[in-house]
Amino acid sequence: SLIPIILAGGKGERFWPVSRLRRPKQFLCLDGSDRSLMQSTADRLLPLAAGWDALWVITASHLADGVREQLPELPQENILVEPQGRDTAPAVAWATLEVAKRHGEDAICCFFPADHYITDEVRFRRTIQAAAALAEQQGAIATLGITPTFPSTGYGYIEQGQTAGRYDDLPAYQVSRFTEKPDHQTAEQFLARDRYCWNSGMFVFPAGVMIRELKAHAPDLIAALKDKGVDAYASLEKLSIDYAVMEKTEKAYVLPADFGWDDLGDWNAIERLMQGEAANVDLCQHVGLETKGCIVYASDPEEVVVTIGLEDVVIVRDGKATLIVRKDRTQDIKQAVKSLGSEQ
Ligand code: GDD
Ligand code: MG
Repeated sequence: SLIPIILAGGKGERFWPVSRLRRPKQFLCLDGSDRSLMQSTADRLLPLAAGWDALWVITASHLADGVREQLPELPQENILVEPQGRDTAPAVAWATLEVAKRHGEDAICCFFPADHYITDEVRFRRTIQAAAALAEQQGAIATLGITPTFPSTGYGYIEQGQTAGRYDDLPAYQVSRFTEKPDHQTAEQFLARDRYCWNSGMFVFPAGVMIRELKAHAPDLIAALKDKGVDAYASLEKLSIDYAVMEKTEKAYVLPADFGWDDLGDWNAIERLMQGEAANVDLCQHVGLETKGCIVYASDPEEVVVTIGLEDVVIVRDGKATLIVRKDRTQDIKQAVKSLGSEQ
């Protein structure tokens, strides 16, 4: 059986001030639809699962009520609540153990970030089915490779190795090297060669395969979770699955993904989504004199914002908070939010 699991415990700090502690970006409607990113993720995955009973979400305790509210159809027992966010290695490890308990070690776990945008959903589901077939037949951890377009330092990079047959007509490759978030220079080198792609952040594998790989590469983590379950969290360190397993395992495979993918990482992504002809991306009543390349958002779309003589600036108003940042500095919002303190 195929079990989609949504990773919905992240903070989305780069979308401050719209993204807040109890209302992070996965709960927001950022693509102009009336479904939040997490709801759209669930909508997209449901046809792959055998109904709501087979769909899981793993999230942090302060977000659990939000998940229940946004996905009322999801059975309680399919919501795994982490007491603290410890990044994705503990989340993947714990959820995989729980799925294995309920559905057996042959169940195909498919992990998805809650905050991605996908253009061609039909092609997306075909690719996931192909990844599931690959995972099952090769005992693999299947990843989906995105053709890189710039030397991003925010993604994992996958080097394609030997070919490993075709799945539903998609060529599969062994992963010869996985490098999480390289520095800029390394990212440029990867981009210059053709055998590299970005890691999409989605992972597909039989539960038993991931449990074995965790035993090999993160033995303390898997032992603690097996032993104490959720009570292990207090003693766990923050670690992502990319560093914990993907950089080390020899079971990784990659399928090329061409379903139209965007990681809604920061405000600039909104512009890519809304690619229009207009001079600015206006998400409220924006009057811009000699203004271009700006992204202007207000939580109340009736709000009026006037700008004069501005270029390439992001302006975001939400309640009592306002953000004004140059477009090329949106990655640094994280830093600013940290200095504001935890309740922001
Ligand atoms: N349950 C839970 N608990 N979910 C979490 C936690 C946690 O502690 N931390 C993060 N998540 C969720 C986020 O909400 C997001 O949906 C997903 O896990 C990935 O986490 P990110 O923090 O967004 O990871 P990233 O973007 O830095 O890197 C990953 O994704 C890239 C593609 O978007 C990596 O897999 C990269 O290799 C990849 O390129
Ligand atoms: Mg991300």
